[in-house]
Amino acid sequence: MSPAKTADKRSKSKTESFYDRIADVHNVALRVNGYRASVAKYIRSLDLGLTPESLVLDAGSGTGIITLGLEDSGIPHRGTVALDLSHRSLDIARSEFRRDKKTDEKRIEVVQGNVLELPFADETFDLVITCGVLEYVSLESGLAEMARVLRPGAKLVFIPVKPSLVGSMLEFLYKFKIHPLEDVRRISQQYFRIVGNHRFPFNEPIAWSKTIFLLEKI
Ligand SMILES: C[S@@+](CC[C@H](N)C(=O)[O-])C[C@H]1O[C@@H](n2cnc3c(N)ncnc32)[C@H](O)[C@@H]1O
Repeated sequence: MSPAKTADKRSKSKTESFYDRIADVHNVALRVNGYRASVAKYIRSLDLGLTPESLVLDAGSGTGIITLGLEDSGIPHRGTVALDLSHRSLDIARSEFRRDKKTDEKRIEVVQGNVLELPFADETFDLVITCGVLEYVSLESGLAEMARVLRPGAKLVFIPVKPSLVGSMLEFLYKFKIHPLEDVRRISQQYFRIVGNHRFPFNEPIAWSKTIFLLEKI
C-alpha cells in the first residue's frame, strides 16, 4: 500500500471516532451559525441542470446540514444520498430529516461509507456536494472518486475550508488539514472544468472559513 493510502486509512478511523464523539455539539453549532440558509441561497442561485429525476450525493454529510440546505433550495431532484463515516453523525442526520417539516425524509437515503471508496457505480449521480470533508483525505483521491460517481457534464459543488484565521482555528479544533487553493485549482482540473469560484457574502458566517468551487466533470 502506498504511504498516502496508509495515512488515509489511519486517519479514517481516528476521524470516525472523533466525529462520533463531537457530533451532538457540532450539530448544535451548525444550527445556530446559519450555514443551512447560506447553502440554500447559494444553490438556488445556480443553474445546476437538475431535473425531477436527478440524484444527488452529499459526500461527507455529517449531521445533514447541506442536505437540508439543498431541500430548502427547492431545486428539482429525485432524492439525495447522505454519506458519512461517522455513525453518530448519521443518526443525528436521520432524526433531523425526520423532524424537519420542509423535508421529505423518504427522498433521503443515509449511508455510512468513505468518500475514498464510495459504494456506488460509476456515473450514478447528477450532482455531488461536499463541504468541509476533503480536508481529511488526499485531495487527489477524493476528487477522483467523486468524479467517478458523477455522470459526464454533471456538477460538483465543492466547498473547501479556505486559508484564513477562522479556517486555521477550525483546522486546530477539528483536526484536519486545509488544502492550499493552488492545489485545489490544479488537482480539480485533472477531472473537472472549473466553472466558478464563488464566495459566500461576508455577513454570512460560512464565508469566514469556506469558499466554493463549482466544477463540471470532464
Ligand atoms: C466538518 S464536518 C462537515 C460535515 C458536513 N458536510 C457539513 O458541512 O456540516 C466533516 C465530516 O466529514 C466526515 N468525513 C471525514 N472523512 C471522511 C471520509 N473519508 N469519508 C466520509 N466522511 C468523512 C466526518 O465524519 C464529518 O462528518
